[in-house]
Amino acid sequence: MQEMPRQETKGQGDFFYNIEDIINKVHCADCLEFMKHIPDKSVDLVLTDPPYNAKNIGPNQRIYEGSIMQLPLKDYKKFCNQWFQEAYRISGGSIVMTPGISNVCFYPQPFWILCWHKPTAVSFNRMGGYNAWEPIMCYRGPTKGQRLGQDYIKVNTLNLTKGAEKNHPCPKVLGLIRYLIEKFSGPTDTILDPFLGSGTTAVACKELGRNFIGIEIEPKYCEIAERRLANTITEMFCKTKELE
Ligand SMILES: C[S@@+](CC[C@H](N)C(=O)[O-])C[C@H]1O[C@@H](n2cnc3c(N)ncnc32)[C@H](O)[C@@H]1O
Repeated sequence: MQEMPRQETKGQGDFFYNIEDIINKVHCADCLEFMKHIPDKSVDLVLTDPPYNAKNIGPNQRIYEGSIMQLPLKDYKKFCNQWFQEAYRISGGSIVMTPGISNVCFYPQPFWILCWHKPTAVSFNRMGGYNAWEPIMCYRGPTKGQRLGQDYIKVNTLNLTKGAEKNHPCPKVLGLIRYLIEKFSGPTDTILDPFLGSGTTAVACKELGRNFIGIEIEPKYCEIAERRLANTITEMFCKTKELE
């Protein structure tokens, strides 16, 4: 795993949470503040989908609730650097994330980049057409006993108009997140998502019997995540499903 250059700090917080107190909960907070209080190397994986710094997003050009989502580029780069450094400290560099195509350059060089192909996606790209893929930046390989047959993952985005998540501008597909969790974590692992949104990572963790820590700044999205979690049950026998 590549070492990320960073300032020598043991977290900037004046206190640290006891992990047992913060797992399997949705925390309505600014992750830059909350993460300062999570101890070094206390989670097994950070799996996340940070805000893309886009004015509007998705097929219907939807806008986030808060007004914080489009920053001047200089500030956005600083934001990327800040959250990534904290995530790196907390997970020991075990990070898998979907930064959005044009933001790949704001992060350190990953171990590998997977391609998520979403053939039916209809959001616009900057090339005058439709955006049908997303990079998944991996700062680690698959967990012990797992392998990815290909570095190309095909999962459609067709079912996102159902369920509570339809009230979030850009929920990720549950099947994709489940797949990543199964490939990059073990059954008793703890997974942090500092940009939880509608709660997809938390729902997938609960289904698969993993512990999660979810952080989301927008109260309306925290409520959606809580509602989804209340309707989720842990599967007794999880079997890794290979995607196409
Ligand atoms: C791309 S969306 C994540 C969507 C999520 N993967 C899902 O499936 O619903 C990014 C989320 O980060 C949240 N966010 C933005 N800045 C934040 C911050 N500083 N702390 C915590 N959450 C933040 C936004 O409100 C938004 O819901």
